[in-house]
Amino acid sequence: MKIVIPGGTGQVGAILDRALTEAGHEVVVLTRRPKREGEVWWDGEHLGSWAREIDGSDVVINLAGRSVSCRYTPANLKAMMDSRVHSTRVVGEAIAAAAHPPRVWLQMSTATVYTHRYDAPNDEATGLIGGAEPDVPGYWAYSVEIAKNWEREQERADTPGTRKVALRAAMVMSPDRGGVFDVLLGLARLGLGGPVAGGAQYVSWIHDQDFVRAVEFLIARDDIAGPVNLAAPGPLPQRAFMRVLRAARGIPVGLPATKWMAELGAFVLRSDTELLLKSRRVVPGRLLAEGFTFDHPQWPEAAVDLVRRSRGGAVSTRRPVRA
Ligand SMILES: NC(=O)c1ccc[n+]([C@@H]2O[C@H](COP(=O)([O-])OP(=O)(O)OC[C@H]3O[C@@H](n4cnc5c(N)ncnc54)[C@H](OP(=O)(O)O)[C@@H]3O)[C@@H](O)[C@H]2O)c1
Repeated sequence: MKIVIPGGTGQVGAILDRALTEAGHEVVVLTRRPKREGEVWWDGEHLGSWAREIDGSDVVINLAGRSVSCRYTPANLKAMMDSRVHSTRVVGEAIAAAAHPPRVWLQMSTATVYTHRYDAPNDEATGLIGGAEPDVPGYWAYSVEIAKNWEREQERADTPGTRKVALRAAMVMSPDRGGVFDVLLGLARLGLGGPVAGGAQYVSWIHDQDFVRAVEFLIARDDIAGPVNLAAPGPLPQRAFMRVLRAARGIPVGLPATKWMAELGAFVLRSDTELLLKSRRVVPGRLLAEGFTFDHPQWPEAAVDLVRRSRGGAVSTRRPVRA
């Protein structure tokens, strides 16, 4: 198949590009700064010659969006919103204008669309969409608004020949340098892998290989459309999540951090505490109901596998730079 991945130069794009290329597909990445074979320029906002890549392709997987690993200043929040909404809109326009549109458009969304909760897991049918939680910082609602607008933009695209799926993905755990697992493991090795603000908040996650398999499953299954949760069936409280990670890496101690310490740490890391403190309890209702099976459903085994692979040396995340 020819698979076009707008925004495919980042963490998730590298995982998909590597796996889908290895599986024998032709992968084209749309990026604002092409450097490597298989990368084509676009600006993420306007139709251009890049749209020719989409015309005649089989699959589009749009991942574009300003990184969420930053301080949630008004300017950054606006950039997070605009980059997602605009890129989704223009991908929809390219598909709508194609003489031979792709069979399926997988659009990245996020598990953050669901409410901050501890009491019950969110699946697609019964899960509660967030934004109205009491006692959480106001800007958390904005993250949910971004997710909702992102999905709405795909829904409203007029692409009758193309099946549309929104990927409500949890944190994708891979051994790649700079990825979320690498960062968490690095913190744990510094002794900072303890509970944050009590650690009762749930962490939803998905092993990179299951993420790729789920994407392949959703490409193959012509009868599945709409939002699909991409999360392992075993989300767990942050305290347990980090304890398991420390055990997998043989790290005995993880210092607890209070909320203000997390604020300080996030400030130093130029990140934001929502990523640490929001309770994301998300489960793969539709994937399981449709017969998808996870190779790594539970965190203790998945963490051991990821630690083993990360010890095997840095994973090459990128295609070689063009000569
Ligand atoms: N990583 C996860 O675990 C996870 C989980 C759930 C959802 N997601 C979502 O999945 C998507 C991919 O995640 P990721 O971790 O791979 O993110 P990433 O590493 O930040 O990569 C996102 C890509 O989007 C492109 N981009 C950034 N700003 C843009 C803009 N203003 N206009 C157009 N393109 C822009 C960049 O490509 P160029 O600079 O090359 O143009 C970048 O490589 C993101 O939208 C993220 O929110 C990620």
